[in-house]
Amino acid sequence: MGVINVLDKHVAELIAAGEVVERPASVIKELIENSIDAGAKNITVEIKNGGTTFMRVADDGCGIWKDDIKVAFLRHATSKVKLESDLDCISTLGFRGEALASICAVSRLQLITRNKNEDIGTCYEINGGEEVSFDDAGCPIGTTFVIRDLFYNIPARAKFLKKDVSEGNAVSNIIDKTALSHPEIAFTYIRDGKQVLKTFGDGKLLSAIYSVFGRDFANGLIPVEYQLDAIKVYGYVSKPQNSRPNRNMQNFFINGRYVKTRTAMAAVEEAFKGSVMVGKYPSCVLNIEVPFEMIDVNVHPAKIEVRFINERPVFDTVYHAIKSSLLKNDSRKNANFKTDTVFNEIKDSRKFNPFRNAPAIFNKSTANTADAQKQEYSPKSKNEFNPFDEINYVSSPKKEEKIITQINDDNNLLSEKRKTSKINIDSLKIADSDKPFDIYSKEAINNSYRE
Ligand SMILES: Nc1ncnc2c1ncn2[C@@H]1O[C@H](COP(=O)(O)OP(=O)(O)OP(=O)(O)O)[C@@H](O)[C@H]1O
Ligand SMILES: [Mg+2]
Repeated sequence: MGVINVLDKHVAELIAAGEVVERPASVIKELIENSIDAGAKNITVEIKNGGTTFMRVADDGCGIWKDDIKVAFLRHATSKVKLESDLDCISTLGFRGEALASICAVSRLQLITRNKNEDIGTCYEINGGEEVSFDDAGCPIGTTFVIRDLFYNIPARAKFLKKDVSEGNAVSNIIDKTALSHPEIAFTYIRDGKQVLKTFGDGKLLSAIYSVFGRDFANGLIPVEYQLDAIKVYGYVSKPQNSRPNRNMQNFFINGRYVKTRTAMAAVEEAFKGSVMVGKYPSCVLNIEVPFEMIDVNVHPAKIEVRFINERPVFDTVYHAIKSSLLKNDSRKNANFKTDTVFNEIKDSRKFNPFRNAPAIFNKSTANTADAQKQEYSPKSKNEFNPFDEINYVSSPKKEEKIITQINDDNNLLSEKRKTSKINIDSLKIADSDKPFDIYSKEAINNSYRE
């Protein structure tokens, strides 16, 4: 007699869900990624008890069509992939069409959504994969998911959840990484009633780094920007002297997706070889942009690993990106020192420029003279200086170029110096924390407060 049976749908769903939803952090990751794919500019995440009893993700993205809502919860239902050939070129964070099916199978889920082309929204409730209600709801454009009691129907799985603090920390970690990977989106994160993160959504990576990791970390960074053929690497690495005893602060994003990549990690550490002590590791927040067809993101349901068709060019580009930034930073160390000196001299006597006719050997110093003059005559007062302006700064050349020509400057060194001119991180304002973004309808808010 045979012993093999086909599992019934419910058991099969629970098994499949287990691959995607391991803990509250995996739910948050999937929901935030959906919000990003939906074009959200603001995403608010709220959790209670580490996310085990309550998680809410609200966005102002495109919202879900009423007719699509029930379909969205079916396994392999997605709006992001249609044909086999689409899998060769995935540009969205989600594509497997299984996150919502998995989440609703193992929790009590409430969805409030309105598509941008519809006048009336919907509130849909589904517990353990079983529909509870489907009603019209007045709500703004966008989507809010509320997930309660994760694994309430799989006690064996619930037992593996760690303490609320650990689960909450894992959620925080996911939100941090996602906020870093999308500085153009404003994230608000509320943990047990307390707002713990707010990013500006101003599109500036340094701004996001400052919000997520704080002033000291943001202060000790070197910018990276490099392109080799079709691969582009940009972001920040720590100065060698700021290395850490572990790799926890190494953050890699490939095409806007947080990933673990040994290739990039090895390239960064190789570039730092000789600059940091054995047993110390550089930190980084690095974006790697590669043509979509050069990577395979369909490696694991959690989508945290990618495979490169050819690892070599990725390694090379990251390596050269870091190496060149470190080298520039080295010359800047001297430059900075001399800048101050020269700057002080100019301040004392504007007409006197000791390096104006200096021989080649002093070229570096004259470059800094230019920089110093630029600072001296810059129309921006020191108070107005916004450290996140660095990009405008590089591309507002006219007045500065005059000065550069005037004193025969070393263009490369100067523009590099400008890009990385000392960041006055102290003058940054913390994002307005009193007005967290909120898309909920009155009804939804009231419901949630009844928690
Ligand atoms: N926040 C949202 N805003 C708009 N549409 C959404 C949102 N969340 C989900 N959807 C829609 O529901 C569909 C199903 O979502 P689900 O997360 O299950 O699959 P996916 O994102 O396509 O793939 P993956 O399983 O890899 O995440 C999405 O393809 C999308 O069309
Ligand atoms: Mg998804």
